[in-house]
Amino acid sequence: MLTGPYLQARAEEAARVFRQCFGSEPVSIARAPGRVNLIGEHTDYNDGFVLPVAINRDVLVACDFAGATGDDGKVRIYSRHYDEMDEFSLAAITVDKEKPWTAYCRGVLRVFQEAGFELRPFRAAVTGNVPQGAGLSSSAALEVAIATLLKEICALALSPESLALLCQRAENDFAGMRCGIMDQFVSVLAEPDSALLIDCRSLEHTSVPLSLSDAGLSLVVVDSGVRRGLVDSQYNLRRQQCETAVSLLQKLEPGRRLTHLRDVDAALLDRHVCVLPPVVARRCRHVVAENERVLTGVGLIRQGKFSEFGELLNASHESLRDDFGVSHPDVDVLVELTQAYPGALGARMTGAGFGGCIVALLTSDSVAGYRSQVVRRYREITGNHSKVLECSPAAGANIIGDR
Ligand code: GLA
Repeated sequence: MLTGPYLQARAEEAARVFRQCFGSEPVSIARAPGRVNLIGEHTDYNDGFVLPVAINRDVLVACDFAGATGDDGKVRIYSRHYDEMDEFSLAAITVDKEKPWTAYCRGVLRVFQEAGFELRPFRAAVTGNVPQGAGLSSSAALEVAIATLLKEICALALSPESLALLCQRAENDFAGMRCGIMDQFVSVLAEPDSALLIDCRSLEHTSVPLSLSDAGLSLVVVDSGVRRGLVDSQYNLRRQQCETAVSLLQKLEPGRRLTHLRDVDAALLDRHVCVLPPVVARRCRHVVAENERVLTGVGLIRQGKFSEFGELLNASHESLRDDFGVSHPDVDVLVELTQAYPGALGARMTGAGFGGCIVALLTSDSVAGYRSQVVRRYREITGNHSKVLECSPAAGANIIGDR
């Protein structure tokens, strides 16, 4: 089943790479999208709220299986991006430190086995157009594409929510990134032309229709050209700081149910802000305010009040920069230039931070001017080449080529 010319072209490309690699037609092609987070940054692992959008940039995995690998029982996965083949036995899935990209595929297979699913050997070719290291969740898209494929070819009984949770576990345990659930969840569960409001505590999720083009608006993602450095270690450190905050606040508020920063509101924080270490207090302030911004933002989108929503994007950036400390000076320049551009309703860094992409809401008729003017000015100031990706909201993962 193929839907639309875009997916058809992408599926044909994936099949071609598979043929070049293995000399036969794939039997199945799975697709999983990258994502851009509209608002709700560093809130997912605090049991809070997030509002990501799956985008029309994706990872495709074309495969065949059962006997196709001969009798050696090995899995073979080729990555076009790295032009490398990974080969391993299902009987002993370990980490290959020489090829970090393989951790995402191997990790998913391993956690599926640990969950009791019986897998069979297969061979696969991975293609994709989610920029890597840019904060658009190329790794989650790879995990989800592999998992969607396994579910299909091994006929596994697995809900979309459980599939996303297994992918998160693969990233936590295999790639060493203690990520929350946002990226995998939206890559699996997004609906077309919508953002996905996720309550990361209950995992309840609601689609929030965007209809941006009806409002004359465009969702613009700009890759700052700053490759993210130290992201894993700094990310894990932020998580630790949030956990420290929770244990300090638990002592200060005995008798109150307080397991995550989700349980802290502005009044509670105000009562104790002076006794918390200043860095920890700032981290809390971001998370508490960001959760509120997500819920307010959803209300504004539903009422079509996009200008006010844009102001929340700006406030979120300020908070991530000053309180959570996850921006980058060059990204701040790009955000400021964007916010100042006539036609921009709001802009902020998106994703884990420390470089990567910004997300902005622009009036559609201002995008062309933005491309030429802001990109040029940003390069003059920082020396970086940025890249503007006009993104449309896409649906979550599916099988696009049952052949
Ligand atoms: C990364 C993680 C997500 C989330 C964001 C920050 O993308 O994978 O789980 O924590 O950072 O909001």
